[in-house]
Amino acid sequence: MTATGSAPLRVALLGAGWIMDFHARAVLEHPRAELVAAASWREPSLAKLAERYGIPRTTTDWRALAGDPEVDAAVIGTPNALHATQAIAFLEAGRHVLVEKPMARTVAEADAMVAAARGSGARLMVAHCWRFHADVRALRARVAAGELGEVVKTRGYGVHARWGPSGWFTDPELAGGGALLDMGVHAVDTARYLLGDPEPVRVCAAIGTRYGAYPVDDDAVLLITWSNGSNSIVEAGWWQPHAGGLEADTELYGTGGYARVWDLTEPPEGYEHLTQPMFSAQLAELVDAVAAGRQPRPSGEDGRVVVQVVERAYASAHGTAP
Ligand SMILES: NC(=O)c1ccc[n+]([C@@H]2O[C@H](COP(=O)([O-])OP(=O)(O)OC[C@H]3O[C@@H](n4cnc5c(N)ncnc54)[C@H](O)[C@@H]3O)[C@@H](O)[C@H]2O)c1
Repeated sequence: MTATGSAPLRVALLGAGWIMDFHARAVLEHPRAELVAAASWREPSLAKLAERYGIPRTTTDWRALAGDPEVDAAVIGTPNALHATQAIAFLEAGRHVLVEKPMARTVAEADAMVAAARGSGARLMVAHCWRFHADVRALRARVAAGELGEVVKTRGYGVHARWGPSGWFTDPELAGGGALLDMGVHAVDTARYLLGDPEPVRVCAAIGTRYGAYPVDDDAVLLITWSNGSNSIVEAGWWQPHAGGLEADTELYGTGGYARVWDLTEPPEGYEHLTQPMFSAQLAELVDAVAAGRQPRPSGEDGRVVVQVVERAYASAHGTAP
């Protein structure tokens, strides 16, 4: 039922919003992937997505695709509250899943997703897309080669300067959190990736709602201590008056030197930080891993670590940390 070897991976898209264009193009571009279906609750945006990319089949009932013998994998790009339910339904039906960040709203949801993948043998991958940016990968290789010596600390952020999202992103039930779950997760995962994927051993945070009137956070400062002894300072925000660089960036301070992923203080005119090659490389990792019978990275377990950091940060900030 699921694709192995050289058979094309038949992919269904769940959600028809902003991020789905990147995923649709990635599937279309890949020689061993096929875009077979898309599902979303609203027909007009779904029909437009299908028209833009020639998707042969659409439905407002995503569950119908989970049991469909013509579908091997799903890309999930819906509001965060739906990620766990949708991923688990596909994984339990033996379909592979690439789920957008944040993987889930809580560690409990992430655990259920990981358990569903382990139970069925289908592959679960989390779309922490910065791992697929050439500049991030190049810096990771330099760190792994020991060029910076021992990395003492990282400083990174994921912020929206002078704007912030609305709609479901600011609904605590649908989003699960604010800027930390939306943008901070990019910076947490990038720091961890650059450090060689250590585990978090301690998380302290100050989190608040400072720039807007909504019931979720738009300002967060985290201090994460990792199992390899490095510390990461991570900032997340919406509507910040200033970013000091691109939308997301990370600096590394090591015993042997300093490096920054993008050494810019202002985005160049018309610059788009999120690029298609990142999403194409990300989809290629899923296709390659499925064909090779191996676990794609970042895995469900990698995504869970990020959610765990976020959950510990909220507990720390609200004074409920163990
Ligand atoms: N990797 C990245 O850098 C990146 C960037 C943007 C978004 N994302 C992630 O992708 C996911 C989708 O984000 P987006 O920017 O495409 O959002 P969006 O609002 O543009 O699209 C969301 C989709 O879900 C549908 N939807 C909205 N509310 C719904 C509900 N209550 N029930 C069912 N469907 C509903 C919308 O109609 C739309 O099809 C989120 O998890 C987000 O965090 C990732």
